[in-house]
Amino acid sequence: MNGVIRQVHRWTSVLFTLAVAAIFAGMAIGEPPEWQYYTPLPFLFVLLPTGIWMFVLPYLRR
Ligand code: HEM
Repeated sequence: MNGVIRQVHRWTSVLFTLAVAAIFAGMAIGEPPEWQYYTPLPFLFVLLPTGIWMFVLPYLRR
């Protein structure tokens, strides 16, 4: 179960990074559409709980 959470965190972090990079690429070309600024947010909302879970896990085990 914890391995699954780590995998989810790992791969959403890749998608999150790509979404942020796409925004900067769009800014280099011109003015990106406003919705593009929000594309990293769903990934961040996955990263936050999975990351907090991995953070507290060693303390819960103790
Ligand atoms: C939003 C809040 C976040 C929290 C609270 C958080 C927390 C954590 C924690 C506790 C770990 C485990 C570290 C360990 O092994 O001891 C971790 C791993 C990791 N985090 Fe996050 N993180 C967050 C966001 C992000 C973001 C934004 C990225 C990248 C864009 C990211 C990328 C990663 C990666 C690649 C790992 C290693 C996973 C693996 O391959 O095992 N995290 N994070």
